Amino acid sequence: MVQKRDIEKAAELLSQDQLVAIPTETVYGLGGNALSDTAVAAIYAAKGRPQFNPLIVHVLDVDAAARYVEVTPQAELLAKHFWPGPLTMVLPRRKDSTLSLLLSAGLDSVAVRSPAHPIARELLAAIDFPLAAPSANRSGHVSPTEAQHVRDEFGDKITILDGGSCAVGIESTVIDLTAEMPTILRPGAVTEAQLSAVLGSLGKSGTQIKAPGMLESHYAPNKPIRINADNVKSNEALLAFGEPLEGTQITQNLSATENLQEAAANLFRMMRMLDASAAEAIAVMPIPDEGLGIAINDRLKRAAAPKSV
Ligand code: TXA
Ligand code: MG
Repeated sequence: MVQKRDIEKAAELLSQDQLVAIPTETVYGLGGNALSDTAVAAIYAAKGRPQFNPLIVHVLDVDAAARYVEVTPQAELLAKHFWPGPLTMVLPRRKDSTLSLLLSAGLDSVAVRSPAHPIARELLAAIDFPLAAPSANRSGHVSPTEAQHVRDEFGDKITILDGGSCAVGIESTVIDLTAEMPTILRPGAVTEAQLSAVLGSLGKSGTQIKAPGMLESHYAPNKPIRINADNVKSNEALLAFGEPLEGTQITQNLSATENLQEAAANLFRMMRMLDASAAEAIAVMPIPDEGLGIAINDRLKRAAAPKSV
């Protein structure tokens, strides 16, 4: 249980440019003061993240965002519908923005999000600066959805606010609102259909790599992954969806009832468990490419792609 004094302690650490791992409804974030180059550099160092990969800024609400980015009419509209929640908007950086320059890695845009998790919100209310927070994993590893995953990544070096399992389980949808046509840079819990219902049409996504997070191999466990498997080999572990295939002792089922929301919440935890298992590789059963399944398949495709870095 996170107590009021844990929040106060975390706020204190953050104000001294220390890092704190925070629960959000999507995945755990590795938080630091977004106005401080020192804190932002510490995040890059802890993650082992290439310097060109910009970070998401977490704010309490749209008014807080407006201090640092241009909140366009489209952003205003999306915030009304989806904030607080798993939607990240890439917006023009304000000329007078005091955000760390390192944070946006030289881009003149900034990604902002208002998280819904009550502990993240309590913490944001307790500090007077926005929080830079990428997923709390080392670069190239899968995102953590439990406090223990964060401990596995960083050991006891980093203070963690334990908010239990993340309800959504995959990272936020990232939408770029800096061009005329809004474009989804990373699929997530807020779907394309939900976004276009609010905005009208969207630009074609995936045509260019704007977010380095779109790089093919990003969410990679150490073991080779085979997706859309209709059989399991004896040296493989199985990540099942629905009725599991037979042929291996080592199985994790994303959702026995084929519920995509349950599958998303389980995805990274189960990938971690299978990656740590005795199997040599991981076979993944097909997931329907609809609703949250689009984001799940996106993460699985990246995990299955040969490592590029
Ligand atoms: O759900 C989430 O979004 C989690 C939680 C902690 O909020 N955070 C997260 O952060 O996934 P991260 O850093 O692992 O992924 C951020 C993504 C990356 O793909 C990054 O390249 C993209 O957002 N991004 C950040 N700033 C950007 C910008 N200015 N333009 C384009 N893409 C940007
Ligand atoms: Mg990440």
